[in-house]
Amino acid sequence: MNHKALLLWIFLQCASGLFSSSTEENPALQGVDSGLEDLKTDNKVLDGLIKYNMRKSLDLDQEGCYLHTGDKECLTACGFNATAKTIFIIHGWTVSGMFESWMHKLVSAVMQRENQANVVVVDWISLAQQLYPDAVNHTHSVGLDIATMLDWLQDELQLPLENVHLIGYSLGAHVAGYAGTFVRGTIGRITGLDPAGPMFEGAEEQRRLSPDDADFVDVLHTYTREALGVSIGIQQPIGDIDIYPNGGDVQPGCALGDVLAMAGNFMEVMKCEHERAVHLFVDSLMNKDHMSFAFQCTGPDRFKKGICLSCRKNRCNNIGYNARKMRKRRNSKMYLKTRADTPFGGYHYQMKMHVFNRKQSDSADPTFYVKLYGAHDDTENIFVDVHDNSIGLNLTNTFLVFTEQDIGDLLKIRLSWEGESDSLNSIWKNIRKSFWAWNTKPPKAVLEVRRIRVKAGETQKKFTFCAQDPSKTELSPGDSITYVKCRDGWEVKPRKRLPM
Ligand SMILES: *[C@@H]1O[C@H](CO)[C@@H](O)[C@H](O)[C@H]1NC(C)=O
Ligand SMILES: *[C@@H]1O[C@H](CO)[C@@H](O)[C@H](O)[C@H]1NC(C)=O
Ligand SMILES: *[C@@H]1O[C@H](CO)[C@@H](O)[C@H](O)[C@H]1NC(C)=O
Repeated sequence: MNHKALLLWIFLQCASGLFSSSTEENPALQGVDSGLEDLKTDNKVLDGLIKYNMRKSLDLDQEGCYLHTGDKECLTACGFNATAKTIFIIHGWTVSGMFESWMHKLVSAVMQRENQANVVVVDWISLAQQLYPDAVNHTHSVGLDIATMLDWLQDELQLPLENVHLIGYSLGAHVAGYAGTFVRGTIGRITGLDPAGPMFEGAEEQRRLSPDDADFVDVLHTYTREALGVSIGIQQPIGDIDIYPNGGDVQPGCALGDVLAMAGNFMEVMKCEHERAVHLFVDSLMNKDHMSFAFQCTGPDRFKKGICLSCRKNRCNNIGYNARKMRKRRNSKMYLKTRADTPFGGYHYQMKMHVFNRKQSDSADPTFYVKLYGAHDDTENIFVDVHDNSIGLNLTNTFLVFTEQDIGDLLKIRLSWEGESDSLNSIWKNIRKSFWAWNTKPPKAVLEVRRIRVKAGETQKKFTFCAQDPSKTELSPGDSITYVKCRDGWEVKPRKRLPM
């Protein structure tokens, strides 16, 4: 085991041990557990261990300057502008005792986007570079210290709290939560970037980031997969909106193979997925013109089926910095798919098609592909993923198609049924079918698809596509049919849907 893997192991051991046992046996949790008033008193010990580094220049070698509670001169020296936005960036648990490379990327993206803002890096490295449970134990004190700083800024400069935005990564998200709890008044916004899971999952609202900590709390969840009973990122929704890119678990570009190619190891996979939240946020700061949308859905499975691509009644939102504040609606889970790299945004389409079985092809188990032709570009053949189910015959099938490129207005769709010789999968299906009927060639399966109804998630436009050649609506393995927008009269005509 190398050094990092060993630390990870210790971390998981401590985290899972503490997580599963009661607080009485674990002194480390008692600090977190005691009343909020007690917490406010024992903060002097941490003096000097928490630094507020105000960034003055995009040149990262420039040190910037430091804010100290009670020291008015530093405000002038730093050029603190009380009428501009104030953005605090809060890091999480650290093994290396140094800022990780994402910090520079995030700081410079924030500064470029908001060039008037007071951008402050909260440095609590020495308290964060400890065994995980100890670092967790410090989150409330660091949060309290931030609250004290903000209270002082309110007194000294009449800083409006609604202009304050705290951005916390991993443990830093819960630090921000405590700051929101302790501050006098209500902070404008807190963004949690993959908030830490161990010792916070299932905790009471008071002991983790929660919707009450700011006027608007938005959360990105990128690593919610469980290992040894804990998940690095918290799984439960804890904000006003909780966005789970790619279902919140497997992030494209982070698979073992992808990361190993860059000379990494298992730790790198974890880091890649956990940190993806930061990179998605940076992407949202940098690519204002290409926003990614997330769609509200009750769960990842329904989203993957394409059921949830609606924007009605605030059911969709921009992700990251561009997220719009929504009326308090707790724990609204939202989903989207992303590309593997920046710009992460792609395009979602919901497709619905009724697959008729006219010719006794009950055993047909088709593998469909669609190819989209747009005004600017065409896609490859995209596998129609029905997620462990078969395409339903005599039923309306709904599925999600995700494309990485912007094809412009959708003009044409080609639906193909994978030929029997096209893939191992089909060959195997075919061998099984024909095994009992050596000589009798099985009759050719024929299905019919007359129309495909499409809704584009990004534009919310709906169209119905009809077979280009109205006499050619039947499909067998190896065939394809092309559909074009139906002539006027067909568009957006909602028809009664058969129950799925
Ligand atoms: C937790 O923090 C408090 C002070 O905030 C401290 O008194 C206590 O010893 C800490 N517990 C552990 C296990 O470090
Ligand atoms: C302070 O910020 C406000 C709002 O962004 C801006 O209008 C003003 O010019 C800034 N003042 C200085 C001195 O930069
Ligand atoms: C679909 O309907 C056809 C008649 O229209 C029937 O022959 C066939 O058995 C049905 N198939 C299934 C799977 O329901």
